[in-house]
Amino acid sequence: MENDELVQLEKKYFLPVGKRLPVTLVRGDGVDVWDINGKQYLDFVAGIAAVSLGHCHPAVVKAIERQSMELMHTSNYYYTIPQVKLAQLLCDSAKMDKVFFCNSGAEAVEGLIKTARKWGKEKRDGAYEIIVAENAFHGRTMATVTAAGTEKYRAPFTPLLEGFVRVPFNDINAIKKATTGKTAAVLLEPLQGEGGVILPDDGYLPAVRAWCDEAGILLMLDEVQSGVGRTGKLFAHQHYGIVPDAMAVAKALGSGFPIGAFLTLDHCSVMGLGEHGTTFGGNALACEVGFTVLSYMLEHDIPGEAAKRGDYVGRRLHSLADRHPMVSEIRGIGLIWAIEFSGPIGEDVVNKCLAEGLLVNNVKPTALRLIPPLTVTEAEIDKALEIIERVLDGIEANPPK
Ligand SMILES: Cc1ncc(COP(=O)(O)O)c(C=O)c1O
Repeated sequence: MENDELVQLEKKYFLPVGKRLPVTLVRGDGVDVWDINGKQYLDFVAGIAAVSLGHCHPAVVKAIERQSMELMHTSNYYYTIPQVKLAQLLCDSAKMDKVFFCNSGAEAVEGLIKTARKWGKEKRDGAYEIIVAENAFHGRTMATVTAAGTEKYRAPFTPLLEGFVRVPFNDINAIKKATTGKTAAVLLEPLQGEGGVILPDDGYLPAVRAWCDEAGILLMLDEVQSGVGRTGKLFAHQHYGIVPDAMAVAKALGSGFPIGAFLTLDHCSVMGLGEHGTTFGGNALACEVGFTVLSYMLEHDIPGEAAKRGDYVGRRLHSLADRHPMVSEIRGIGLIWAIEFSGPIGEDVVNKCLAEGLLVNNVKPTALRLIPPLTVTEAEIDKALEIIERVLDGIEANPPK
């Protein structure tokens, strides 16, 4: 099939909920992908921060090969070895007590929301409210859309769920003011990824942790984008020396294979028999992949490598900003960065980078996000930033009216 034919078929058969770039990707290897016409791209989107070890990593491919020949799916009526192995490794490395496996980030956050409701009912006199942040993103199910900080994600689907209280991100006093006898939990991303790579002040999460302890409510973190190595630590909250009561992970855990999980400390591991479940979640194939990815990350200190590469990206981006008046801010940590522009040129930059052989996405009309595989090399970073620099040179030489 040709690219144009695929574009026409997509128009005919798909709900038009997302905007695709006009390329059909057919192959990937590490940080490189190739389109149907044989053109090569550096992938600084990495399946939205999911392809953590790079495309088709040999360890992941082998795990899929091996496990798919043995056993893929059984339902959770039975034990499987990969599931129990991953549960132990994930809980131990996250310093959490219990885990529930699912298939995606939104499902993992749903699990947190249900946990907050059940915990409030049992342990805090029926408290059910969850304090969430403006500009947050937690997924596309009804509960996670309700938790979202962006009006456009919520508005088409009202009436929403009850009990979500929105406060500005990075404002501890707003959380304190919003806390009442009805509050069960605070749910936050340690850094807002889809919201534009917004990092809180260093003191924010420790202050939220201290407040949740004082008020007797749960601190739940959505580490779906920030977790499993992305920020240069295994989990982003480790930068702040805190431990949440519960957290959600997904994306990087599968390095491109769908898997999600939510984890809880024992004191809020409240879900009981029959109160939660999934057909596919935690199946043997997904868990063997998750176990392989997490083991590889720990054995090769991939978070530490991401931290080093991230410092390099940061230095290069700040010097790029010095040379480009249209770059107004650089934000990021580890291997999640945003270049903020002084005008809405994000889409133009994305399209021009695509033409030059670089996949990047604009997380806002005014901001480009860089989230390459955690295995990216300095040479690949150099190549990507050279393309971005060339594209910015061109736009600045001929600025939009
Ligand atoms: C912080 C966060 N939470 C939840 C989700 C939803 O994950 P999924 O798309 O796998 O449902 C995302 C996806 O980008 C995310 O960034």
